[in-house]
Amino acid sequence: MRAAYVERHGPAASIRYGELPVPAYGPTDVLVAVEAVVVDPVDTFVRSGAFRTPTPFPFVIGRDLVGTVAARGNGAPGFALGDAVWANSLGHGGRQGSFAEYAVVAADRLYHLPEGVDPVQAVAVAHPAATAFLGLFRHARLRLGETVFVGGGAGNVGSAAIRLAAVAGARVLASARERDFERCRRTGATVVVDYRDPDGTERLRSAAPGGVDVYWDTSGHHELDAAAAVVARGGRIVLSAGRQARPVLPVGPLYTRDVTLVGFTMSNAAVHDLAAAAVVINRRLADGTLGACIAGELPLSEAAEAHRRIEHGELAGTRLILRP
Ligand SMILES: NC(=O)c1ccc[n+]([C@@H]2O[C@H](COP(=O)([O-])OP(=O)(O)OC[C@H]3O[C@@H](n4cnc5c(N)ncnc54)[C@H](OP(=O)(O)O)[C@@H]3O)[C@@H](O)[C@H]2O)c1
Repeated sequence: MRAAYVERHGPAASIRYGELPVPAYGPTDVLVAVEAVVVDPVDTFVRSGAFRTPTPFPFVIGRDLVGTVAARGNGAPGFALGDAVWANSLGHGGRQGSFAEYAVVAADRLYHLPEGVDPVQAVAVAHPAATAFLGLFRHARLRLGETVFVGGGAGNVGSAAIRLAAVAGARVLASARERDFERCRRTGATVVVDYRDPDGTERLRSAAPGGVDVYWDTSGHHELDAAAAVVARGGRIVLSAGRQARPVLPVGPLYTRDVTLVGFTMSNAAVHDLAAAAVVINRRLADGTLGACIAGELPLSEAAEAHRRIEHGELAGTRLILRP
């Protein structure tokens, strides 16, 4: 089969495109004929070695896929040949990735694509929406009626977080560039401030005088003084990006108001948490309340170019699809 893979950790240019054997599947695995994949920021961290995770070489890159069942083990009875399926947790933790004509997916990491849902939209939202879901509901324990601030609200994770929080009944405040205010409002934010506005924190305080219960800057720019000024007593500040960030921690304003800092990465997500996210993602895809902005499509042979584009920040708020 044709695949995009690396033989060691390295730059985007080290990605090769060529023949690899169709992978063997075990009794509880499904062999998926891949229809489309998408490039995620984390793919570049795994490829370069910046995020340390077991990577058997030659290592097929990529985390997400949508496709159809080509074969399955006897211990994967929930799937039948030809079923439309998606996955979003390949390519790390010793698992081979998705950027190939065929990929092996453990049955408990594979989800049916609901009837009538566009496969491209499904693969495009899978990773950011699962991140948004687990960040909001698993880690920040968002409750009905609470107020959420989503920084980077026009980004892929930010858009999904606004949407999922709003649909769940939260009041959502967001930050973005002014040109993206409308996108944030469309996805469900009721107040949007410019993240470069020096009065942004004041504006958020006036919009939520009681403070925000969940403060999540999805962009990874951690201005914790601003967060401390805006977060409510008992609030949760979510950390999910900014690998190199070393912000000053305003200890007093946080502990004296019972504020929790909670960090997480999808790479550590338990299978049952990923499955819970998939249920909600499927429901929201099916009712049309979740979607992604597609930047374009490339053939899988252009995987190195896809990594270059995402590393150069050319894909903010959009998703680049590749097809084998
Ligand atoms: N922990 C996890 O499991 C996990 C999962 C998924 C992603 N991530 C990480 O989360 C981050 C965001 O991912 P993404 O796919 O949403 O990226 P993205 O689509 O590029 O979105 C980032 C957004 O942040 C905005 N932004 C830039 N500077 C900002 C600032 N100072 N304050 C507020 N917003 C700012 C950008 O706006 P402009 O376009 O105006 O610059 C853009 O809309 C990445 O670092 C990614 O690696 C982590």
